[in-house]
Amino acid sequence: MSLSERAERVDQESSRTTGTPTPRANTKRVVTKEATSWGQMKRRVRDVLLEVLGPKLSQRMKADELATLVSSHLDEALRSAEVSLPSSKRAQFVREVAADLLGYGPLEPLLHDPDVTEIMCNGIDEIYVERHGKIVRTDASFIDESQFRQVIEKIVARVGRRIDESSPMVDARLPDGSRVNAVIPPVSVHGPVLTIRRFPEKAFEVKDLIAFGSLTVDTAVFLEACVRAKLNILVTGGTGTGKTTILNVISSFIPLDDRIITIEDAAELRLNQPHVVTLESRPPNVEGAGEIKIRDLLRNALRMRPDRIIVGEVRGPEALDMLQAMNTGHEGSLTTLHCNSPRDALSRLETLVLMAGYDLPVRAIRTQIASAIDLIVHLDRFGDGSRRTTAITEIQGMESDIITIQDVFSFVFTTGGKESAKITGKLQATGLRPKVIERIRAAGLDLPAKLFQPGGLTPVPPQRTESWSTANLGEAAGGQETADRAKILANLARRRGGSR
Ligand SMILES: Nc1ncnc2c1ncn2[C@@H]1O[C@H](COP(=O)(O)OP(=O)(O)O)[C@@H](O)[C@H]1O
Ligand SMILES: [Mg+2]
Repeated sequence: MSLSERAERVDQESSRTTGTPTPRANTKRVVTKEATSWGQMKRRVRDVLLEVLGPKLSQRMKADELATLVSSHLDEALRSAEVSLPSSKRAQFVREVAADLLGYGPLEPLLHDPDVTEIMCNGIDEIYVERHGKIVRTDASFIDESQFRQVIEKIVARVGRRIDESSPMVDARLPDGSRVNAVIPPVSVHGPVLTIRRFPEKAFEVKDLIAFGSLTVDTAVFLEACVRAKLNILVTGGTGTGKTTILNVISSFIPLDDRIITIEDAAELRLNQPHVVTLESRPPNVEGAGEIKIRDLLRNALRMRPDRIIVGEVRGPEALDMLQAMNTGHEGSLTTLHCNSPRDALSRLETLVLMAGYDLPVRAIRTQIASAIDLIVHLDRFGDGSRRTTAITEIQGMESDIITIQDVFSFVFTTGGKESAKITGKLQATGLRPKVIERIRAAGLDLPAKLFQPGGLTPVPPQRTESWSTANLGEAAGGQETADRAKILANLARRRGGSR
């Protein structure tokens, strides 16, 4: 068969596979004629090149080598695919065709864009990204569904997993730490869906969260004291509100000589302490065997002599084991939970404990929760794209059958509200002295009363700090060392297991 015959056949095949309109007529983007023909040109040329270069492409090849190879065969391929291309567009065309052939196709530039924190592909031409906390639709599109499927298979295969009709959902971690989730039909009704969450090259630190306004110097001081006093802390919030990020930051307050065991579905935490054991759960294999759940890992961790247990997220019956661990000598444990408010966290926990299947009376569960959890740090994503701590709430105890909670810090809006596009306000003390202050004092840390007064101890916003060390903490406060501040710093410094 000649090249032109091949091109013709390929063209007929692709119009057969892509000619049918998708059932999502109402959400489908209006594709301009120009974009379609550019896409069609790419498809025709790509398919011709695949036929010609097929065997060579199976070898591992770098993007620039491939671009050279594509370039050298381009004239011939354009001719046989009957495509004419203005010379000004040639370089871009070669780049895009090369990306389509190897790598991750239209996702390639998005994966290299440092501003992109999330990539969401709902369909071949519905690719959204998150930049600076905002979700926007891109112009990128896959050529057709088979290319979309190939990219998904390639990503999944790289981490030794597979996706097909019998196991249509995959959740995996890429070598660079990104988290990937793919769902294909029949589970996903309208075609494959791919979500990639990328992480900044350097994990956020306390100073970053203070600079973003997600924490204040005062709340950071308070949280550091709570972690050092071995309080059990629950980080809560909706999806993507920054729970894992803040858990990582809070974990950095753990003294250097503590033995830390982390348990996650996909290892995301990045701790700097020297003594860290990282455990990751495992889904069942193709035969449905070999699953290792968070719950199994948690039970195992208790036999590993942990000083601190950090569970990336509780979302199932492991909540019961977590509460029991917290109540039986494993203080200072940290975890996150998906929910809408600190109060909601309590009922979510109750539900998760019931999932463990031991028919426990509700009051018994609530008593467990009230004695296990000391503090809830709640996060929200605001309409302006920022992620903020909106409440730091202490669990005080039980009053008849109800768990009593009290905000120690909460976000006060001066303009706008949660959903507004423009927001001002700050996380400030409510004026109530938390009960946990006694435990903090017992740990040898003396927090000044001013920290819990609405005016606070440190002016907000602070200057950007270069690192969270004792000296810079003073600097963050605008260099105004008060007697109280000197006291906290001296105390914190005394207990800091070394410089960080
Ligand atoms: N305080 C913050 N300010 C800006 N971006 C943040 C902040 N916290 C987290 N992020 C970013 O938001 C995304 C989701 O964060 P993550 O901690 O994984 O959320 P969650 O665990 O709640 O789903 C990540 O890309 C992360 O880098
Ligand atoms: Mg998370």
